[in-house]
Amino acid sequence: MEIVEQPEGPPFELGKAVEALRAGLLVGVPTETVYGLAADAANPDAIARIYAAKRRPTFNPLIIHAGSEAEATTLGQLGTTGAALADAFWPGALTVVAEQKSTAAVADLATAGLDTIALRVPSHPVMRALLAEFGGPLAAPSANISGTVSATTAAHVAADLDEDVAVVLDAGPAPLGLESTIVSVTGEPRILRPGAISREAIEDVLKAPLPLAGEDDAPSAPGMLSSHYAPTVPLRMGAEDVRPGESLLAFGPRQPAGWEGAVATENLSTRAELREAAANLFAALRRLDEVGAPIAVAPIPLSGLGLAINDRLRRAAAPRQS
Ligand code: TXA
Ligand code: MG
Repeated sequence: MEIVEQPEGPPFELGKAVEALRAGLLVGVPTETVYGLAADAANPDAIARIYAAKRRPTFNPLIIHAGSEAEATTLGQLGTTGAALADAFWPGALTVVAEQKSTAAVADLATAGLDTIALRVPSHPVMRALLAEFGGPLAAPSANISGTVSATTAAHVAADLDEDVAVVLDAGPAPLGLESTIVSVTGEPRILRPGAISREAIEDVLKAPLPLAGEDDAPSAPGMLSSHYAPTVPLRMGAEDVRPGESLLAFGPRQPAGWEGAVATENLSTRAELREAAANLFAALRRLDEVGAPIAVAPIPLSGLGLAINDRLRRAAAPRQS
């Protein structure tokens, strides 16, 4: 894999990435949420490479990234609700699951043969420039091995996917650090995956309560399998104390009892800011995973981005399925 460092502003260094995408190869891309593993959405061989590299079950569909809302609407039928969400949050960290248009130039494998499609117009300047220069939609799941902690830096991508990726565009740490919020508009609107845009912000636009899809609700997001985002060490949530032999994932200025004895400590945000905590979450989990001790996780509020942070931690703590 070749890592291509990006300048602070345009023009970006995209030549090798575009060449690789045209050749059906995989490119690690920065987005405002997490790093993605991108491929030409119209090329079935390239999409197959994504599933192989991630060791991802092929029934798990990918998010299709478009350069504009106009391009996205050539792929899916957003409808009134989807269009309102797109106007409010695109470019940005919202994914809309909509009816797929029969004319959509997207490989069946990318949507796992579903008649729906997950669409997002990202805001990261490097990703936007890449989409413009490539000139078509890019399928991109998070750039990590399926079921493990998502990648928020180019180094994480290299650690997980090295040989399988032709080029990684390194634009520094992903600013938000949490995946996009996925909202389905194919029936009654609902959140399939909480994420970097809070439920409250979306409800403000819809002017209606937005339910979270239940786990048994079909067709739910397969990424919502209960064990996901999982480090190799066990996690214990809502920890009011640190037990002997445990590491501590802390939040805020107040430390749980026994914190002095922690094998290692990462504080997601000493100021107890949920946005900062979201941006730090996956990198902190990866560092504590390397230490190897079980992790005690301090309580984190459920409001705003706390919903998505607690969701990822709950899945990381869930018993493994395989
Ligand atoms: O922030 C993000 O969303 C990142 C960046 C790279 O864009 N991408 C990401 O992709 O998190 P991934 O593949 O790790 O998660 C996509 C989720 C999966 O849970 C998948 O099942 C769901 O989106 N999904 C995709 N298409 C769907 C569809 N048609 N219906 C329901 N869920 C869908
Ligand atoms: Mg993922």
